[in-house]
Amino acid sequence: MRFDVFTLLPETLSPYLQASILQKAAERGLIEIALHNIRDWTRDKHHTTDDTPYGGGGGMVMKPEPVFEAVESVLGRFDPLSATPEPACPVIMLSPQGRVFSQRVADELSRHERIALICGRYEGVDERVHEHLVTDEISIGDYVLTGGELPALVVIDAVARLIPGVLGDPEGAADDSHATGLLEYPHYTRPPEFRGWKVPDVLLSGHHGEVDRWRREQALLRTLQRRPDLLTKADLSKKDLEFLKKHGYEAG
Ligand code: ADE
Repeated sequence: MRFDVFTLLPETLSPYLQASILQKAAERGLIEIALHNIRDWTRDKHHTTDDTPYGGGGGMVMKPEPVFEAVESVLGRFDPLSATPEPACPVIMLSPQGRVFSQRVADELSRHERIALICGRYEGVDERVHEHLVTDEISIGDYVLTGGELPALVVIDAVARLIPGVLGDPEGAADDSHATGLLEYPHYTRPPEFRGWKVPDVLLSGHHGEVDRWRREQALLRTLQRRPDLLTKADLSKKDLEFLKKHGYEAG
């Protein structure tokens, strides 16, 4: 899968991309991440990427021309009135006004062969970029950051780890918190006892069936205690519901 990232601060993304499991995935040809500096598409002497807002008020607004030219020179030009009305791939703006990112959205994006991510800066981006260039807007949560670079890394990380082979473990992301609609069960490793705190006996028992059941029940309990809102959408068996009821859950 290929990610094209359009940003004014490519240097803020590269250290994370180069130090993580994503670098290994890139070396193995599973993902390709291209960073494009929007400033390279400015045409004036000062390489201006922002300007004051029409109508007044504080802050600066990202100009439309360099953003359009950057994206079009990488993805090709698209225009509803032309022979190529659609962009080659989703063009996603990271913005606090977008739909909220979730495991489900990560899963949806991982099915594309390519996505483009635009990182906004300053107070905002000229509305014509939102209207005529962008096909989707994603927010990573209801808070405001100084730019879309961290959100772009969040999206790339969450999407890339869903691509088969990116995680070392062949079971991959199947049991992750949220992948099943539930929070994940607790994990333990050696030693079996640390400062008097013991690993639950069932995990040392070697009974795979019992380990699976314990994990399922722990995931259900955790979700009930920490995120009961998730239970209404989770795929629950009759046995799950009976277990939850015993612990005080009232369905519906
Ligand atoms: N840019 C600034 N804040 C953001 C957020 N919460 N999500 C995505 N992009 C952003």
